[in-house]
Amino acid sequence: MPLTSPLRLASSLFEASFASRPTAGASAPGRVNLLGEHTDYNGGPVLPFALPRRTVVLVGPGTGWEAVSALDGAVVRFDPAAAPEGRWTDYLAGVIRVLHEMRAAPPGGRIAVASVVPAGAGLASSAALTVATAKALSQLSHRRLSREALVEVAYHAEHDVVGVQCGRMDQTIAAHATARHALLFETGEDTRRQVPLDVPILLIETGVSHRLADGEYNRRRAECGAALETCRAVGVDAGSLAAVPEETLEQVRSQMPEVLFRRLRHVVRESGRTRAAALALTTRDFPRVGQFLLDGHASIRDDFESSCGEADRLVESAVRHGAWGARLTGAGWGGTVLVLAPPERYPALSKAVAADFRREVGRAPVMWTTRAAGGFRGERAG
Ligand code: GLA
Repeated sequence: MPLTSPLRLASSLFEASFASRPTAGASAPGRVNLLGEHTDYNGGPVLPFALPRRTVVLVGPGTGWEAVSALDGAVVRFDPAAAPEGRWTDYLAGVIRVLHEMRAAPPGGRIAVASVVPAGAGLASSAALTVATAKALSQLSHRRLSREALVEVAYHAEHDVVGVQCGRMDQTIAAHATARHALLFETGEDTRRQVPLDVPILLIETGVSHRLADGEYNRRRAECGAALETCRAVGVDAGSLAAVPEETLEQVRSQMPEVLFRRLRHVVRESGRTRAAALALTTRDFPRVGQFLLDGHASIRDDFESSCGEADRLVESAVRHGAWGARLTGAGWGGTVLVLAPPERYPALSKAVAADFRREVGRAPVMWTTRAAGGFRGERAG
């Protein structure tokens, strides 16, 4: 079923809400992280790709700030200087505040947003919104910001203003994605390499919504910080948790609480797996990539404890029905499972997995196949 064009939707929403036409605009994609979960704030590698599904942000000049979303069509006035209120406009306010500090924010504006990136599904809908907003508003104030600068604006908006202690993976892929490629982003060295990914991927939404700000995510970050401190205290010389040598794991095991050790083991092994998977992708060794996905899922289930029962069932079911591999993608505790299988198997596999899920969980999962798409771009309202 074709999705409504978010550009057309945002454009008519803008005109209907503000009785004028937008003067600038941009869109940015959601993302799927193929591998490298909870490594980006630990100095490790990540391997995301961008979805063809995008969020469109159209803007025009105004006095004060007003925004409207296609989700409910209600025009909201907001003050970017006020404390976050737990509303979607907090993300806009975050971007405006960071742009303001850089003297790249217009004095006021009108903003219309339409998105086909599912929210709360672990597909980085918030980074799609912040990156597109940063691009559109900087255009409105006639400032050309580099991709790197846009990533920083979007990251600080979410991290410093909204208060989710996220890494930079989601903003980075939204800004740097290339069609038919995943991006190997080494967060420790801040280097990026495009890795060919020209096969369809099946996505299955668990239907369990996760909310990053709920606390589990920030708690994991604190645990990772504590694990790194302990490693250093016992003489392991590592600049980040991901850089702790795998061969020292057994040596530090008895030095920290079991739970911290498992967080550490996840980050260290996941980092190695992610680099190995990027290599396997370049040689098109998909069965090997699939095995890494399964190992990655087991690690977030058992060591990082960021999976959920619905995702575990979907992964097992996908493998039973012929997938090379599958795993829960994104922050976790709900969201979306990605499946990598021989392309001709997807139709039968989808049916079989949906039947298992209905039997085991009692409802039909939302699922769709996708391919790696491009990053943000400027949009003109048509
Ligand atoms: C969220 C964060 C990212 C990353 C992932 C987990 O998507 O925004 O920075 O930490 O979770 O890998």
